[in-house]
Amino acid sequence: MKTNSFIVLMMLAGLAVASEPARDVQPGQRGKQVFDQWCAICHAAAPRMPGTASLAAKYGGSLPAALEERTDMPPAFIKYFVRNGVLIMPAFRKTEITDADLELLVDYLKAKDQ
Ligand code: HEC
Repeated sequence: MKTNSFIVLMMLAGLAVASEPARDVQPGQRGKQVFDQWCAICHAAAPRMPGTASLAAKYGGSLPAALEERTDMPPAFIKYFVRNGVLIMPAFRKTEITDADLELLVDYLKAKDQ
């Protein structure tokens, strides 16, 4: 009986560990997480992505078509498009992408003032 309750206790302990909620991502990874959640569906570096294809046509190869490969975008430029949208790109509200997340997204996209 004693052994049985020990086993049950250990099983419960295992369950507690297994059901622990996912840990918060590292601060450095949050920008990528935001990109993957909201932008990658159109801007991933892959074929048939509306954003990537549109930017390939816009720049004709003079700049990378995939946003994650760009290093030329000023923070204000990215923020403008995220908050206002363009063509089929929707504007994102602060309830979707908070200002804090937008800062991390901008960092992730290596934005720099020129
Ligand atoms: C529904 C598809 C879609 C989603 C989702 C989307 N975009 Fe876009 N985005 C586009 C398209 C299409 C363009 C178009 C451009 C053009 O040809 O001018 C664009 C343009 C941009 C530009 C302007 C780039 C330039 O050099 O002109 C930026 C910056 C941008 N998107 C950032 C983002 C970010 C950051 C996210 C996620 C928060 C995002 N977009 C989500 C479709 C999308």
